[in-house]
Amino acid sequence: MLDDVLRAPLSSLSKENKLRKLPKDIPGVDFSSNDYLGLARSEELFNKIQEKITSAHLKQNGATGSRLLSGNSDYVLEVEQKLSKIFLSQSSLIFNSGYTANLAVLSSLPQRGDTIIYDELAHTCIKDGARLSLSHRYSFKHNDLNDLEKKLRQAKGKKFIAVESIYSMDGDQCPLNELILLAKQHDAFIILDEAHSTGVTGTAGSGLATSMNLHNQIDIRIYTFGKAMGIHGACVAGSNDLIQYLVNFARPFIYTTALPPHSITAIDCAFDYLERNHHLQEILQQKIKLFTLSSHNLKNKTDSNSAIQTLVIPGNNNVKNAASILQNKNFDIRPILSPTVAAGAERVRICLHTYNEDKHITDLVMQLTELSLSTHSTIH
Ligand SMILES: Cc1ncc(COP(=O)(O)O)c(C=O)c1O
Repeated sequence: MLDDVLRAPLSSLSKENKLRKLPKDIPGVDFSSNDYLGLARSEELFNKIQEKITSAHLKQNGATGSRLLSGNSDYVLEVEQKLSKIFLSQSSLIFNSGYTANLAVLSSLPQRGDTIIYDELAHTCIKDGARLSLSHRYSFKHNDLNDLEKKLRQAKGKKFIAVESIYSMDGDQCPLNELILLAKQHDAFIILDEAHSTGVTGTAGSGLATSMNLHNQIDIRIYTFGKAMGIHGACVAGSNDLIQYLVNFARPFIYTTALPPHSITAIDCAFDYLERNHHLQEILQQKIKLFTLSSHNLKNKTDSNSAIQTLVIPGNNNVKNAASILQNKNFDIRPILSPTVAAGAERVRICLHTYNEDKHITDLVMQLTELSLSTHSTIH
């Protein structure tokens, strides 16, 4: 019986306290979702999307096929042009998710004999894309350019460096300026995943690279719409040739049904909404500042100036207990367990939002301080 085969690995996960389960709704103040700017819950944006969808030419439920067959439309092309203007790129290509966009880029661009070098804390979809590729692959120590340089010296063929603008589990930033210099010295191409900076920073939500005026020095940029943009999907931005290459060689683009018109409309409307409400970025920065200033004494907090803040509480059991204490105090906070993060780096991950009230943030910091003191004394 298949079930007998499956039970063995599941029970060993369970014994190690690593068994994943779909969570129930957790009541309390949201410090867990990626809805940094509150767009996912915006009634105004919801209504705009519905209005646009009910306009005559969009009355179709599904895309009906891959973009290369029946799933293309003038409207998708129009939205892609709009994205190119926002992300200041020659061209852009919409993907069904950030996961598939990264998979597509990493599996199709580097060839046999080439080398991918990715930050050790890069998201799983970067690592999975590298595994699908026929090239060599190495990780380098998180944000450590000396280690990256060492790996670049050993690399064969064309070299691709894969990094994130803001790291999803630590919330810290990639040293983009220095990375670009190093990549130039070693003739390496940069793949930048802007999942956690899309919407949050840059004019019209265009992310970190454009806000630092570095976009022209990065070969491949990936933006996702399921986080601060509050909707779903992703795009790759870059040169005309890059996009034409992906259309021809990226299997996660070619062999899948395109996003439905509803999702394309949502992308269109979400960027319009953010343009009209760019003050949301400032509000989020104020919330981040309040959290970082009030929590600067917190032990085991990782160094982050982004909407992602982290308190490391080693051990799956310890971090689960910590999260449940916080949940009982009416904070929706989830534990991040190993193997999602390395054993010993288990953590509670706190996501800050425009709609978090100041008092909730300062109350949370108080609870985290208590927790940090008590876990510190029990762990050691
Ligand atoms: C850095 C990073 N890249 C890509 C993704 C995947 O994006 P999506 O959720 O749109 O598939 C995530 C999602 O957690 C992420 O954190």
